[in-house]
Amino acid sequence: MASEIPFVTFNNGQKFPTFGLGTWKSKPGQVGQAVKDAIDAGYRHIDCAHVYQNEKEIGEAITAKIKEGVVKREDLYITSKLWNTFHRPDLVEVGLKTTLTDLQLDYLDLYLIHWPQAYKEGGELFPADGDKGLYSDVSITDTWKAMEVVAEKGLTKSIGISNFNPEQVENILSIAKIKPVTNQIEVHPYLTQKKLREFCKSKGIVVTAYSPLGSPDRPWAKPGEPTIMDDPKLKEIAARYNKSTAQIAIRYQIENGNIVIPKSVTKSRIIENIKVFDFKLSPEDIEAIDALNKNDRVCALERDVSHKDYPFKAEF
Ligand SMILES: NC(=O)c1ccc[n+]([C@@H]2O[C@H](COP(=O)([O-])OP(=O)(O)OC[C@H]3O[C@@H](n4cnc5c(N)ncnc54)[C@H](OP(=O)(O)O)[C@@H]3O)[C@@H](O)[C@H]2O)c1
Repeated sequence: MASEIPFVTFNNGQKFPTFGLGTWKSKPGQVGQAVKDAIDAGYRHIDCAHVYQNEKEIGEAITAKIKEGVVKREDLYITSKLWNTFHRPDLVEVGLKTTLTDLQLDYLDLYLIHWPQAYKEGGELFPADGDKGLYSDVSITDTWKAMEVVAEKGLTKSIGISNFNPEQVENILSIAKIKPVTNQIEVHPYLTQKKLREFCKSKGIVVTAYSPLGSPDRPWAKPGEPTIMDDPKLKEIAARYNKSTAQIAIRYQIENGNIVIPKSVTKSRIIENIKVFDFKLSPEDIEAIDALNKNDRVCALERDVSHKDYPFKAEF
């Protein structure tokens, strides 16, 4: 079944599945089963991060599926992300090795700088003095050079970035010996990111679309806020294709050439979400979904607006 999922070729030649399982907010006690259900359903790409605080359970699930003989390590594509408290160059390998231990792996397939903004090193994941975030002045280019070292050591096959704006991407490219293969950013029908997508494409960087369903379980969601899953236009399109709204939102990313990583801990939805490779959206329907854009960002990490490297100060 995994063979149904098309692969993209990164700028370093590595092939990577265009579809994977998101794991942010997937709770302990649920995430392991979700990963097992996903692998059984044909998922081969799992999107993880140290800050999600669930990598140990994901590691147990992956190990169990390898032991069962359902998959081999080389069939899997495991992404994780360097958290903001590990940006100082000497901590990059520490961050990566912590993740490798938790995931019970010898190497990652892809390691990303999770956010451009660096936090005070060590200790808590969100260091703060009252309401004020505590930051570090490490530069993103110094962190990138340390990312190149862990890639050269073979601890990860590819390296990339997440939540970087065009100026920050240019900064990395200006010093990079190894180019980022992807920029993982928020993309969905209410934040279509046309300009940033075109920019990344022009640089040979694949976009990975996070929160493709608009992240309805984000902790700060307010009751009554319009949701992608209830959007009348998407519902109308879904009915015509005999698909669910979620499947239309996921397919929309595939049509745009993006990697897409919907999260679910519900077995029926995990199975539903991968069934997006047996149909195509018409150009008219893609245009209609493009037109739903309202630059509505759900992951803004607003506590960091005063950080020197906060990525969403301007249009991006
Ligand atoms: N790099 C970054 O900074 C960053 C930021 C955000 C997200 N991400 C990554 O992207 C992944 C996806 O984004 P996300 O978790 O924010 O949100 P999302 O995938 O847009 O939405 C997840 C929510 O949709 C529900 N859902 C899933 N499939 C569904 C279906 N078929 N029908 C109805 N509801 C469905 C899930 O419910 P159940 O789980 O209850 O089934 C969950 O509440 C994350 O998990 C994470 O791996 C990265």
